Amino acid sequence: MSKTATLEFDGKKYEFPVTVGTEDEIGVDIKKLRGEAGIITLDPGFKNTGSCESAITFLDGEKGILRYRGYAIEDLAEKADFLEVAYLLIFGELPNKQQLEKFTNDIKEQSHVDEEMKKILDGFPKSAHPMGVLSSLTSALIAFNPSSVDVSSEDDMYKAIVKILGKFPVLAAWTLRKKNSLPLNYGDEDLGYVENLHKMMFEKPNKTYNVDKAVIDALDKLLILHADHEQNCSTSTVRMVGSSHAGLFASLSAGISALWGPLHGGANQAVIEMLEGIKEDGGDTHKFMQKAKDKEDPFRLMGFGHRVYKNFDPRAKIIKKSADEVLGQLGVEDPVLDIAKGLEKEALEDDYFVKRKLYPNVDFYSGIIYRALGIPVDMFTVMFALGRLPGWIAQWREMRLRKEPIGRPRQIYIGENHRDFKPLGSR
Ligand code: CMC
Repeated sequence: MSKTATLEFDGKKYEFPVTVGTEDEIGVDIKKLRGEAGIITLDPGFKNTGSCESAITFLDGEKGILRYRGYAIEDLAEKADFLEVAYLLIFGELPNKQQLEKFTNDIKEQSHVDEEMKKILDGFPKSAHPMGVLSSLTSALIAFNPSSVDVSSEDDMYKAIVKILGKFPVLAAWTLRKKNSLPLNYGDEDLGYVENLHKMMFEKPNKTYNVDKAVIDALDKLLILHADHEQNCSTSTVRMVGSSHAGLFASLSAGISALWGPLHGGANQAVIEMLEGIKEDGGDTHKFMQKAKDKEDPFRLMGFGHRVYKNFDPRAKIIKKSADEVLGQLGVEDPVLDIAKGLEKEALEDDYFVKRKLYPNVDFYSGIIYRALGIPVDMFTVMFALGRLPGWIAQWREMRLRKEPIGRPRQIYIGENHRDFKPLGSR
């Protein structure tokens, strides 16, 4: 028997169907609420609103579970590589050998951008934040690839998807190279996706490129851990923009902007800046804990807390372990790692944090690894975007294939009631 939920308002009862997900999550389908009862639901920040049904990522914030298409994040981070995970997220199954080979080759075919794009990059000052540059360049790609704009057949979607997966690392690498005054280069199709990205970012014109395998493995793992996280701020943005049929690249460009903010992906930059600040201030973690708890003080412990995880963030667990390993393998000693561990220990024992279920999130330790890998601080969120790209694509594709309607929330108006217009002279 299908379940229903009953709402009572103004002495009348209304019944609404209930949707149960494959993990027994329950959603009350209130599509007809306004039509039948003349009322809407109010939920700023969408803290309790399901915007869609999705078969891509499952997370249970209470139990600290994260799965892509049913596979545990722990297994994927350990056993798969980034392109396999990208394929899994986008198309729903892990690829077999032939599928992976085709996917990889199709992406390689597209791993260049129009030379004219260099002129656009050239217009940015060196001081521009890489996230702003990346968002603009992603949007600019539309002009050079008009056939990828509003695609709806699966075949055209596939072409647009491999295009952006091929071109995005070039744009990210160029963003860094411009900052570092290095010539703009292209990748090497003999290399794997992540190594190629690394080479494009760091190759010097006067040196043979060489990289430690530990660096590529760590980067691959970080990208996998960031690859999707269901309906977060940037992903919801991608789905929202895509719902107007604005096209994949425009939707992604908007997603990059959403990710930039310090409460979302920008937290990885904010964390390292905070840890550095604590170090420079003498390393007194207790003082900063007090600041984080003081409601009069705008300071928040960056890298702590999560809208959904109310137990622990499984990605943070993997990254913390990885931070220790990577720094050990590369022989890097970073005093902020000790500060981070000290802060975590204090927070986990502190009443304020325990009561509010605030735990380290994915961004608490990721910056420490990025820094050990030689990635500049203001590129951290770009690394997040590179990882999140397949998730955004998968969510956009799902939204279009399910023919979801345009996203258009309602509101409760709290402004002035009707007023008579006052001419300028009498105001
Ligand atoms: N430091 C101090 N207090 C905090 C923190 C923090 N980092 N996070 C939440 N709180 C407090 C908050 O003040 C509130 O207290 P009270 O109930 O007394 O008013 C309570 O905890 C609930 O916080 P909230 O802001 O209502 O929770 P939210 O779900 O709206 O926000 C969050 C989630 C991630 C934006 C928030 O925890 C935060 O700002 N964290 C720091 C930024 C950060 O690390 N962001 C990265 C998130 S993970 C990467 C990603 O996917 O984006």
